[in-house]
Amino acid sequence: MGTLITPHGGTLVQRVLSGRERQEALAEARSLRQIELSGWSLSDLELIATGAFSPLTGFMGQADWESVVETMHLSTGEVWSIPITLPVPESLAKSLKADERVALVGQDGVVYGVIEVREVYWYDQRREAEAVYRTTDEAHPGVKKLFERPPYAVAGPVWLLNRRDPGEFAEFYFDPAEIRAEFERRGWRTVVGFQTRNPVHRAHEYIQKCALEIVDGLLLNPLVGETKADDIPASVRMRSYQVLLQHYYRPERVFLAVYPAAMRYAGPREAVLHAIVRKNYGCTHFIVGRDHAGVGNYYGTYDAQKIFSNFTHEELGIQPLFFENSFYCEKCDGMASEKTCPHSEEHRYILSGTKVRAILRSGQRPSPKFTRPEVADVLVQGLAESEPVTG
Ligand code: ADX
Repeated sequence: MGTLITPHGGTLVQRVLSGRERQEALAEARSLRQIELSGWSLSDLELIATGAFSPLTGFMGQADWESVVETMHLSTGEVWSIPITLPVPESLAKSLKADERVALVGQDGVVYGVIEVREVYWYDQRREAEAVYRTTDEAHPGVKKLFERPPYAVAGPVWLLNRRDPGEFAEFYFDPAEIRAEFERRGWRTVVGFQTRNPVHRAHEYIQKCALEIVDGLLLNPLVGETKADDIPASVRMRSYQVLLQHYYRPERVFLAVYPAAMRYAGPREAVLHAIVRKNYGCTHFIVGRDHAGVGNYYGTYDAQKIFSNFTHEELGIQPLFFENSFYCEKCDGMASEKTCPHSEEHRYILSGTKVRAILRSGQRPSPKFTRPEVADVLVQGLAESEPVTG
């Protein structure tokens, strides 16, 4: 792995079968019982198998669930903040046998993987919600999804046999080993990772570029798995990132790759998971701004930064970079943050996602002080296309 940061737990997990091994596993899978995967679980399977979730080699058992929920560590000691479990319906849960191999099948009928069953257990969803999401309110999109799943989980090592069709994101779809190889090729020794589920606005651009001043490269790493219905669709966002990079970034300093995970909206706990995954992608630094991975008013503005004080630098490995609420200020005549701008609110351009959508819906473009005009054009067009779906 040369000069790059060591993956979480020491080794980049590789559980993607190819060639003859894959053929044999696919042949065997025809005679196995099946577990049908939701979109969420399918992305978890892929993230485990490609090493993005290193050191996990499979879906978590009860000891890890317990340890992660209570202590934010795996039972083997590594930092881990969110249980990665595979829920199964009760009837199936009760009939699965230890050491049985079971085919993992998508809703499209494709066999994506195999799990070797080590354990099946009931888990307390309310306890998980309280610890991980800090709420049991079903209006929280992550909690809602958690409660919709059956409360039985099957644990064990997995192998990936088929890849999902990356569709329109193919050009930006890379496994952690490929992303690491690209960083090496570019000679980057320090890389900052940026998680996002939104179009990149001026505030995002500002904090990315502040970070870029002190490292070699930026991994712009938008999440493109399941998000809530009123988030801007990933296809529109991807177009917005491309025009932004084209006009406002130096190509040799940025690498755009998708993060094919489901969004959990778990705020602070998800910020820690996001950092660990980016470490596995080869990043040495990770941006955590205001209300990272938050939703509604469930988390304090800087809770996702405060949570990092629970870990030593040695056990986390990746350096979080914290940024305060950032905006364009008329008086400063430029981008600034709570930390640097002495002026009052009336001089600042701060828009919520809801406000931006309202502006776009009315056919207008948000001010260039909030969003680059090229990005605004993509969003206006994207909203027009998606309006019948998102309402
Ligand atoms: S997230 O759910 O993926 O975190 P989003 O795409 O909005 O949402 O944010 C990406 C990153 O930028 C997060 O680290 C977030 O904290 C940070 N961020 C977003 N808006 C701002 C802002 N105005 N000021 C500072 N940081 C911000």
